[in-house]
Amino acid sequence: MLREHFAKLQPRCPYCRVAREQDSALYIGEVALEEDGDIREGVLICSDPLCQREHPILDGIPVVVTDGPSWAASQLAGVMRRVDLSPFAESMLGDLAGAGSDFDRERGNNGIYAEAHWGVPVPSYLSLIRAGMELLSAPPGGIWIDVGCSVGRGTFELARATGELTVGLDLNFSMLRIAEEVRRRGRVRYRRRRVGLVFDTVDESAPELARENVSFWCADAAAMPFSRGAFRGAFCLNLLDCVQSPLGLLVELGRLVVEGGEVALSTPFDWAVGATASSAWMGGHSQRGPQDGSSLLEFRRILSAECAAGIDTGLLIEAERDGVPWRLRVNERSVTEYAVYFARLRRKG
Ligand SMILES: C[S@@+](CC[C@H](N)C(=O)[O-])C[C@H]1O[C@@H](n2cnc3c(N)ncnc32)[C@H](O)[C@@H]1O
Ligand SMILES: [Zn+2]
Repeated sequence: MLREHFAKLQPRCPYCRVAREQDSALYIGEVALEEDGDIREGVLICSDPLCQREHPILDGIPVVVTDGPSWAASQLAGVMRRVDLSPFAESMLGDLAGAGSDFDRERGNNGIYAEAHWGVPVPSYLSLIRAGMELLSAPPGGIWIDVGCSVGRGTFELARATGELTVGLDLNFSMLRIAEEVRRRGRVRYRRRRVGLVFDTVDESAPELARENVSFWCADAAAMPFSRGAFRGAFCLNLLDCVQSPLGLLVELGRLVVEGGEVALSTPFDWAVGATASSAWMGGHSQRGPQDGSSLLEFRRILSAECAAGIDTGLLIEAERDGVPWRLRVNERSVTEYAVYFARLRRKG
């Protein structure tokens, strides 16, 4: 985390906002490792004397969450993972741990997204980013955020488009580590599944990107560590159907974006059962109701001016595009393809 980015972003303590309804600034406490204004290890501390909560910076990535133990339950293994193992040792350990192990899942999932974002010659994700940019009413400017950035390609492309600082935010530390390595070293490093437990090592230089203008943060999209209206706009690609509360995510996006700002949101409405209880899905159930179980109709209803749900996200749909292809390579003989829905949302004034 660059000190100059911290100064521009003026992050806030999410714990204070969620639990105490306070808007408390964070400040940089002890720094254990720093290179040229880039803090690799340190701590961000809540300035409210009643809170003083500590949020670590690990491998250059601030981890700013409301509930440390539940974040650690899913993420600590990724943080602690050795990244210096040779491909030989990793392959041995992968075979030993077996299919479906935490190690196998993390390596496979990271590889799928890294390949989509950074694969050569043309990463499939670029067409999705382009669709998002095209849906905006004008070329983006000012400080933007890429919510659910994964391994970071969208964040870099937004920074290139705006010419300004762009934040990439995700809860998954091991994915962010891949993004952070691109930012810091200009290297793209991941394992790509060939078949079963057989992986190839990808270790290449990243394309020309605005590396000085991106900042990666590990945080929950349900409680982001920034103040109301901190961003001119947001990308939120393929996250809606992976969170505990899709409605809560929309409310949080509405809070973060400045009045009149825009959100480019895409989703395949492929509800992840492990993440979102079916009662919280938008559509995907209740096919006897007025929306016929359609996720798209329910999404439109929630974001319409006359929404009867009683929860105002502050966002309205302004433009839409449906059926945009999103391809994820699973292994050398398998690809998953979604038809993604895109919306441009406007933050009400
Ligand atoms: C389906 S992937 C999409 C990633 C990327 N935007 C893309 O389109 O390739 C969803 C991403 O959201 C992240 N994610 C899931 N729940 C999250 C949450 N509550 N807060 C922040 N990120 C989250 C996951 O770690 C993952 O990187
Ligand atoms: Zn606090």
